[in-house]
Amino acid sequence: MSFDYKVKDLSLAEAGRHQLRLAEHEMPGLMSLRHEYGASQPLKGAKIAGSLHMTVQTAVLIETLVALGAEVRWASCNIYSTQDEAAAAVVVGPDGTVDNPQGVPVFAWKGETLPEYWDCTNEILTWPGGDGPNMILDDGGDATMLVHKGKEWEAAGQVPPTTDADAEEFQVFKALVRRTLEQDPQKWTRIAAQIKGVTEETTTGVHRLYELAKTGDLLFPAINVNDSVTKSKFDNKYGCRHSVLDGLNRATDVLVGGKVAVVAGFGDVGKGCAAALAGQGARVIVTEIDPICALQAAMEGYQVSRLEDVVGIADIFVTTTGNFNIITAEHMASMKNKAIVSNIGHFDNEIDMAGLARIPGIVKTEIKPQVHEWTFPNGNSIIVLSEGRLMNLGNATGHPSFVMSNSFANQTIAQIELFTKPGEYDNQVYVLPKHLDEKVARLHLAALGVELTELTKEQAEYIGVDVAGPYKPDHYRY
Ligand code: NAI
Repeated sequence: MSFDYKVKDLSLAEAGRHQLRLAEHEMPGLMSLRHEYGASQPLKGAKIAGSLHMTVQTAVLIETLVALGAEVRWASCNIYSTQDEAAAAVVVGPDGTVDNPQGVPVFAWKGETLPEYWDCTNEILTWPGGDGPNMILDDGGDATMLVHKGKEWEAAGQVPPTTDADAEEFQVFKALVRRTLEQDPQKWTRIAAQIKGVTEETTTGVHRLYELAKTGDLLFPAINVNDSVTKSKFDNKYGCRHSVLDGLNRATDVLVGGKVAVVAGFGDVGKGCAAALAGQGARVIVTEIDPICALQAAMEGYQVSRLEDVVGIADIFVTTTGNFNIITAEHMASMKNKAIVSNIGHFDNEIDMAGLARIPGIVKTEIKPQVHEWTFPNGNSIIVLSEGRLMNLGNATGHPSFVMSNSFANQTIAQIELFTKPGEYDNQVYVLPKHLDEKVARLHLAALGVELTELTKEQAEYIGVDVAGPYKPDHYRY
């Protein structure tokens, strides 16, 4: 078998395969789905374009999709988040060798440039023979955006001219779409028509999908995987509770205990980050715009303040809002000497990196890859992680396997749902039904030695549920 791919170094495959083997042990949800659906092959015929951090855990997801019958092409959804050994292992595949790869075409390496990033995203949507995928598995919505913008600009007859107001990333994106349309003027209409649906991993991507659905512009059905309870209340919260410290430690190894840490945003990710930092003995200050989340933070014992009022006293900053311009260049200029500035939200615009670079006389020094010291003309400096991109994946290896098994079991079930039930879903955004959410949780109980209490028939009738579930109404918040 020969196929195209682009990864850093295939000779890393063996090291990657060892890590995958250990990850499989920690991913009981995905492994049970392989067992349950391996014979019936529900994804046979599915051609999945995946845009999601190319980590060891994602490798187990990819091989699960393949075990269920799918053909897959994969790119990372962030320039820094690929684990090169995982990418190599997926290309080589469990039965291949470095000289004869038998796995899946992956287009991802750690440290892509922005043009390379968009080229890789284009690669997963461009199948051999000029064909496209029939499913998208997205994280943050970039693959979905490429299809939508490509089709929109194709219909308009041109890509809008680049202006100075466009962020660098958007300029690069426009250049890519322009090039694809020059090569193949109907590419995006043709590809969009083949796609049966998208399953979206994260808060930011889901937000983009609801916007498209609201204006009637969503081109295919979508499942919001993020808002499965077994995703956002686990990955976003407990995943970040683990990986925010991993990112900080690998980047700086600074002692967190006793420091003042500001967590911007107290949603699911913010709750996990604040708990981790407080667990290490930091004094945590939360910033919020939502009175409910602000009250929750206060009830947890955190000081809730405005960033302007505490910017000069904090040692560590972590943005978790999914919003933009949270930490401005002005904020950074008034921080303590050697304050650590980082973002764990999906996009890099939570911290105004462009504004920081424009400060007259500022000097950027690379301490090591993805760790930079920015020195102001007055001699003070701050340490910025992953150039403002998500630090848990840029400076560390993202969430651990067990929590990703929950997220990716939801992804797999959502892919099966949209692929096998065309016609049952409109061009809207759906969440998985609660019985499937409960199923994902159930798949993870035995590994933790959890013994679940079973309802009696009488108890079930008394609280108005079925003995087999679902156990809560849809509006229950957990
Ligand atoms: P969420 O919506 O639950 O929480 C975001 C919080 O930020 C909200 O409570 C909101 O009120 C608050 N916020 C918005 N603007 C603010 C401002 N100007 N100042 C202070 N607070 C503000 O979203 P969630 O699930 O916590 O996700 C946050 C981001 O993290 C998203 O971009 C998501 O895609 C990303 N994410 C990253 C992960 C990672 O591994 N790095 C994992 C999961 C999600």
